[in-house]
Amino acid sequence: MVLLDGKKTANDIKDEITISVNEMIDLGEKVPHLAAVLVGSDGASLTYVGSKVRACERVGFNSTLIELPETTSEEKLLKVIQDLNGNNDIDGFIVQLPLPKHIDEQKVLNAVNPAKDVDGFHPENFGRMALEMESFIPATPYGILQLLERYQVITKGKHTVVIGRSHIVGRPMSILMSQKGPAGNSTVTLTHSHTKNLSEITKQADIIIVALGVPEFLKASMVKDGVVIVDVGISRVPDDTKPRGYTIKGDVAFDEVSKKSSFITPVPGGVGPMTIAMLLKNTLIARKRNT
Ligand code: GUN
Repeated sequence: MVLLDGKKTANDIKDEITISVNEMIDLGEKVPHLAAVLVGSDGASLTYVGSKVRACERVGFNSTLIELPETTSEEKLLKVIQDLNGNNDIDGFIVQLPLPKHIDEQKVLNAVNPAKDVDGFHPENFGRMALEMESFIPATPYGILQLLERYQVITKGKHTVVIGRSHIVGRPMSILMSQKGPAGNSTVTLTHSHTKNLSEITKQADIIIVALGVPEFLKASMVKDGVVIVDVGISRVPDDTKPRGYTIKGDVAFDEVSKKSSFITPVPGGVGPMTIAMLLKNTLIARKRNT
């Protein structure tokens, strides 16, 4: 079994980005600038946004964090987005999801200038991605492709089963894995809550990508020997023995499934760090495209 080490791979990618930033500085160019908008004070979102800002510092980017109260109106948030769209100093920005219930998430994502949409969530970028045109690939799927590619996992002609059809991970992943390209050319089955006999399908999978948010959902009895496992889940499970009162669990019962796997991502330290590295990569790309 080989561990798909997202922490190490993300650090490699961040080192590559740092080299590009230093080249920009040597040429007297402006360094990339990422902004993040956070509405409310959800604990997990605060942690993720904090990690994104720290990652910017690590590679030499400028970063701006815009924190808005939970009660922020949709109108006010749309105004903040318009300001970021028009601010030439900002190369790319993200609106951390989920948003409070009184705000229409899709309306907000539609308001982001596609050229600054480093999350790749705008319909224009999603459509362009699906058509294999120049776009921003959402950071988590992009990170998974990079992990598979850098570990030389063979995907061509393999059967990939994606569990979960979210707009952020499952759906784009199912499209990308079927496309031409280094971590593509695979035959994809996209499964979801209405899928019948899920175990029968997962047992036929060469590669399983689980993005459900249900701790330890995928068990050893559901996979065949030699399977490649990508675990996108990051759930906080109450645990009194931990100083923070919770422990982080993935969607895969790691101890039992890893014994049958050829490659597997750990949680934490798998897909999570890759997401942040690829957000930085997209911001670098945005900086270069917008010059
Ligand atoms: N919430 C969970 N994942 C993501 C992500 O990749 N980007 C943003 N903006 N919000 C998220």
